Amino acid sequence: MAAIHPYEPGKPIEEVQRELGVSEPVKLASNENPIGPSPLAVRAIREALAELNRYPDGGSWALIHKIAARHKVEPNRIFMGSGSCEIINLLAFLFLRPGLNAVSSEHAFVIYQLATAATGGSFKTVPMRGGEVFDLDAIAAAIDNNTRIVFLGNPNNPTGTIYRRAEWKRFLEKVPQRVVIVADEAYFEFVRDAEYPDSLEDHDDRRMLVTLRTFSKIFGLAGLRVGYAVARPDIVSLLNKVRQPFNVTSLGQIAVTAGMDDEEHVRNTLRVNAEGMAYLEGEFKRLGIAYVPSHANFILADVGGGRAVYEKLLRQGVIVRPMDGYGYPRHVRISVGLSEENRKLVAALKKVL
Ligand SMILES: Cc1ncc(COP(=O)(O)O)c(C=O)c1O
Repeated sequence: MAAIHPYEPGKPIEEVQRELGVSEPVKLASNENPIGPSPLAVRAIREALAELNRYPDGGSWALIHKIAARHKVEPNRIFMGSGSCEIINLLAFLFLRPGLNAVSSEHAFVIYQLATAATGGSFKTVPMRGGEVFDLDAIAAAIDNNTRIVFLGNPNNPTGTIYRRAEWKRFLEKVPQRVVIVADEAYFEFVRDAEYPDSLEDHDDRRMLVTLRTFSKIFGLAGLRVGYAVARPDIVSLLNKVRQPFNVTSLGQIAVTAGMDDEEHVRNTLRVNAEGMAYLEGEFKRLGIAYVPSHANFILADVGGGRAVYEKLLRQGVIVRPMDGYGYPRHVRISVGLSEENRKLVAALKKVL
């Protein structure tokens, strides 16, 4: 346990106000939805507040049925978690122990590594292609007799890169059936690439494929902590045995059930993200800042010294994320914000670089 470093989240706005005396900092550090939650979700929460004395539905019945219908799968293939992070932890808890290992890529979402370490299992990483893209062939080759989980992020955080359909299909054929394949698709809805694979199409009862999705990103409900897995019923059943009884809050269930079909909110989010991304890319080019082209709602930028620039940007009232913990000491990860937030970031970058 001494070797495990706690997860370093995006610095909270209140903390920056308190510590640096910055009155209205802009937070572009946690890949949140800058336009806010769906108004339908907010209204449903308001109406439910007087019932907070009650425990939630421990089985998330309405929510599971709604998600199952959306994906055209049986409800027994859906598992709800307190964010997809909880599900990553539960999968590691179920399938790993000392002597066993999980395989992923270097520069992958750091929770895969932390969840593995907490079980005493080992975490094997494989270099990225070009330092930026998951190499599924190399990951398949790294699987050994003791491997029980492969963690894949598509798009990956913090690179924003994706693997495409042909590579994914090839990978599925190579992975032994005893290995759980976790396809973490937290940013699924942002991707516009014609060759981007939807792992939900590849579920069958031979493989242990687990697709992870979340309501924290495009749906704008990160504060409520709701995510889900689609998986074989036997895996869902195992997850249900080890979760705590009321792992998804009542407000989380109510908000997601009400807001999930708000297509206007999703469209607006996509528009703001596409405009913001185009603006940031244009400015980075002008400023000579190298970046990794992203399929998600954040962008990895090479600013020379990530931690130092992060500290300086904080003093300018802009919170980004240093990436030294992800093996990119030169980089910061910037979430796409509202247009005025992106402008404030660019103005601050011009000052500090
Ligand atoms: C790749 C990836 N997976 C999972 C998560 C966790 O999301 P949740 O809020 O559902 O726990 C994140 C959040 O940043 C992420 O980037």
